[in-house]
Amino acid sequence: MSALLPTYGQRAIEIKQADGSYVTDTTGKQYLDFVMGIAVCNTGHRHPAVLEKIEAQLGNVWHTSNLYAISGQERVAEKLVAGTHLTRAFFCNSGTEANEAAFKLIRKWTGKTKIVSFTKSFHGRTFAMLGATGQDKVKAGFGPMVPDFVHAPFNDSAALDFIDDETAAVWLEVVQGEGGVVVGDVAWFAALQAKADEHGVKVVIDEVQTGIARTGTRYAFEQTPLKPDVVTLAKGLGSGFPVGALVTAPGAEAVFEAGSHGSTFGGNPLAMAAAEATLDVLFEDAALAHVQAMGAYFKSGLERFVDGDTFIDVRGLGLMLGLVATKPVADLINRLRDAGLLVVAAGPDVIRFLPSLFVSQQEIDEALAIIEQVVTKEMVQ
Ligand SMILES: Cc1ncc(COP(=O)(O)O)c(C=O)c1O
Repeated sequence: MSALLPTYGQRAIEIKQADGSYVTDTTGKQYLDFVMGIAVCNTGHRHPAVLEKIEAQLGNVWHTSNLYAISGQERVAEKLVAGTHLTRAFFCNSGTEANEAAFKLIRKWTGKTKIVSFTKSFHGRTFAMLGATGQDKVKAGFGPMVPDFVHAPFNDSAALDFIDDETAAVWLEVVQGEGGVVVGDVAWFAALQAKADEHGVKVVIDEVQTGIARTGTRYAFEQTPLKPDVVTLAKGLGSGFPVGALVTAPGAEAVFEAGSHGSTFGGNPLAMAAAEATLDVLFEDAALAHVQAMGAYFKSGLERFVDGDTFIDVRGLGLMLGLVATKPVADLINRLRDAGLLVVAAGPDVIRFLPSLFVSQQEIDEALAIIEQVVTKEMVQ
């Protein structure tokens, strides 16, 4: 009998060792990891530059609290905003926390409460973020929700009608991750931004899953006409060390004052060492070009499975890709695992691929060969 609360389903394997794109379980079986902790280990497992920086920090100081200056926060904030219109950052420990901070900021900044988010979105599991999330299954049993979230259809011009003078913010993912790797159209994003501008509505982009180079640019919004007032980050920011961030555009500087918000752990020296090293290796032109090249290569490799019968589409940006099936993919994902490839579902019928951003062409070929072998067997059965 487990002493754990049963918040997670049955877990078939435990990973004992990890290196680059590969992990080994407690029985010694090796897997090609195309989950990467669900878009967390964007630098691959135990990237040497990140490892070196964390080890050096371990020998100095681990935690001091935000009672004292933490120069790593200044450096990481600089790296997050450099070359963008964004200007300030606040550090926390997870994506939900980053979004929660954004929610508080938006309320105080605008003095309004109505927030337009989208069906099938996922923004976290605190009360405000359950409200923002456009999936009933995560809310079941927890009502009543925080009021004044309305859910508009994603990538649909009807969404524009939800935005009015009463609206504080429109809150979205550029690629809905948990919702099925759904990419919004550039024209729709442009119309959304224009409508937000027309009504003085803030734009909040949840880049918890799409950020930190995952889609081939530092942030996914850079591939759109969106100009967010607020960006939230987590997952890939610490290469596996828990780090979240709220990043803001001009105008937000004075919304929070001392005491408005805070965190015991947020931005601690170890977290900042992990984040600084992560950004040093990923926010580099060569790294971003690699993500774009490998993303295009992998996407075209996956497209060969699209037969209009079992699989109907490949969608996504960069190295955040989804193979869309016509039936539930849970069993298939288990069979891929048994054959040595770790992948994760996005919704019931999409196989999501989130490899290391330093994945090689050879590793992609290996993944495609495993998929081929498992899918062919499936079709024969
Ligand atoms: C887009 C998005 N926002 C927020 C979250 C929540 O992040 P966390 O689990 O770090 O709280 C997730 C997690 O999957 C996510 O994909």
